[in-house]
Amino acid sequence: MPNALPAPPARSFHHAWDRRAGPRSTGSPTRVVVPRCTTDADLGPTTVVGMKLPLSLTVAGPAARAQFPALAAAAGLVVLRVGLVLLRPWPLALAVDHAFDDGSASGPDPLLVLGLAAAAGVLLSGAIGLLDMGSLRAAEGAAERIGAALRATMFQRTMTRSLRWHDRMRSGELVSRLTTDVGRVLDGVVALATSFLPDAVMLVGVLALLFAFDPELALIGLAVVPVLAAFAVRQRRLIKSAQQDARAESGRLAGTTTDLLRNVRAVQAFGRTDRASAVFGTRNRAVLDVELRAIDVDARWTPVADIVLAVGSALVLVVGGRHVLSGALTTGQLLVVLAYLRDLYSPVRGLTRLSAVLAKAGASATRVRDVLDNDEAVVDRPNARPAPRLIHEVHFERVGFSYEAAHPVLEDFDLRIAAGETVCLLGPSGIGKSTALHLLLRLYDVDAGRILIDGVDVRDCDQRSLRERFAFVPQDPWLLDATVAENIAFGNQDATRAGVVAAGRAALVDEFAGRLPQGYDTPLGEGGVRLSGGQRRRVAIARAAVSTAPMVLLDEPTASLDPESAAGVIEAIRSTTTNRTVLLVTHDRALASIADRVVTLSSSRPPARGQLQNAGRR
Ligand SMILES: Nc1ncnc2c1ncn2[C@@H]1O[C@H](COP(=O)(O)OP(=O)(O)OP(=O)(O)O)[C@@H](O)[C@H]1O
Ligand SMILES: [Mg+2]
Repeated sequence: MPNALPAPPARSFHHAWDRRAGPRSTGSPTRVVVPRCTTDADLGPTTVVGMKLPLSLTVAGPAARAQFPALAAAAGLVVLRVGLVLLRPWPLALAVDHAFDDGSASGPDPLLVLGLAAAAGVLLSGAIGLLDMGSLRAAEGAAERIGAALRATMFQRTMTRSLRWHDRMRSGELVSRLTTDVGRVLDGVVALATSFLPDAVMLVGVLALLFAFDPELALIGLAVVPVLAAFAVRQRRLIKSAQQDARAESGRLAGTTTDLLRNVRAVQAFGRTDRASAVFGTRNRAVLDVELRAIDVDARWTPVADIVLAVGSALVLVVGGRHVLSGALTTGQLLVVLAYLRDLYSPVRGLTRLSAVLAKAGASATRVRDVLDNDEAVVDRPNARPAPRLIHEVHFERVGFSYEAAHPVLEDFDLRIAAGETVCLLGPSGIGKSTALHLLLRLYDVDAGRILIDGVDVRDCDQRSLRERFAFVPQDPWLLDATVAENIAFGNQDATRAGVVAAGRAALVDEFAGRLPQGYDTPLGEGGVRLSGGQRRRVAIARAAVSTAPMVLLDEPTASLDPESAAGVIEAIRSTTTNRTVLLVTHDRALASIADRVVTLSSSRPPARGQLQNAGRR
């Protein structure tokens, strides 16, 4: 007889999360279009009327708030669906009681009753399917929008986080957080919207109906619920901890992978492909181990829950059967009770499942929050003002700085550069020359002393305006995966095409751009891989040439150039830095000779002040 029971309601959303967890977990590519960005200030409260919200909701907070109507609509549709699911056992029960059991001749035609019951069953199932579709669309659509906004916020945050933080964080790890972890957080949001309310409503509804029908049966059926609840609470802790390990290990794998991919040239050149595969393999196996452990923890509850629920159903069947035999219950009513029991167990299962999904989402939400959190970032002070125009001087005043506390790089570093002056910074490798330039740009903040521009501490300046005062040619030319022209224009947001081409000509980019397939419009590939080292450097110099900033910072601009090209570049630097203040790091004697002054950094404390080596500039 139990075989004739109406099918339990399909938990389509639970399946939906399971499906979604697959592609998201593999870090599917993210969309770039983003509806809106949020700020730290938007990171909403962690509690509502004293109740702790799941971390996945808090982290997705501002974006989730914007999608609240869609999530509420999804929840509403699923609650409606619950109503229909509760009606579903009735057609069969009525058919059983009236078409077969009720032998009276005065009753309705049994065939008509059967036909009506069948039609009602189909209609109910159809309506439930439509509601499923509507709620799935609303919830998943909202989740994707939340995901896009969350990724945008995270990306914006990573762009402004301190380089100290970036120095520690590997880019693959970040990508993993932006894709997989955001996906897991969204699973939590969808689960909350489509499961919590409907499951709770369903639970209360079924309980009320069961008690109305047969309180004794209801109590027997309910007895198993506390057992499951206790199990779910324990599971939640275990799942969260297993997922945290799994996510951390996956992040490490992503970090190692990007590192090896970025260095594929070195790997091949040194014949280390086997070694690279071994490094990858170790990480890969570690991920496999922790993922298998996490799956094991997650799956372990299924047989326990099934057995506990089956025991509940069996008890109800035995006691209910006796009630039917004693005439207290009709067969149809017993069927309804058993069907409701399944319907009772379905939200119980749903809620335990929700607890597991939230545990996973929570593990990922912690990793997302780490990215969004404030750190020792170089932040604008509340009363930050535009940086001075650099009319008088730049002054490094007894500057101290270290990347790691135990290893100071600069101590008591003192240097004045007058406006219009060209100063060359010399010193052995690793002494801190590039670091001095980075501090002036405020890529890092000084630990001691001050850096002043026209008497104003750079920490009191608005970062954006501060960086507009400098044109910078870094030691490692950082090129983007963009065209030559776009890479040059990066140096000045107001650059015109003519300005870009003129800068290209001055920095001798013309020479090779003419031979590229699309000239200045040739894409350069990741990191400018399609150019030689010297060509990349010239693009970086063109970037400084297109800038109108009053001060130019050059870090080994002629390194990796042949003497002839270097002479051309020196000429370009000389012409593009006329009337500008220049801080130059170079070991190239020819280039150093354009400086008004050479300052030598040494490891003695305080660093040796520069001697005037070449006053005859220009
Ligand atoms: N991101 C970083 N994290 C930790 N330590 C760093 C970092 N960047 C540089 N250092 C350390 O700081 C010191 C100074 O580095 P810096 O790049 O300023 O040297 P440099 O004088 O420019 O050397 P080179 O002539 O080789 O370019 C070095 O000892 C280096 O190991
Ligand atoms: Mg350097």
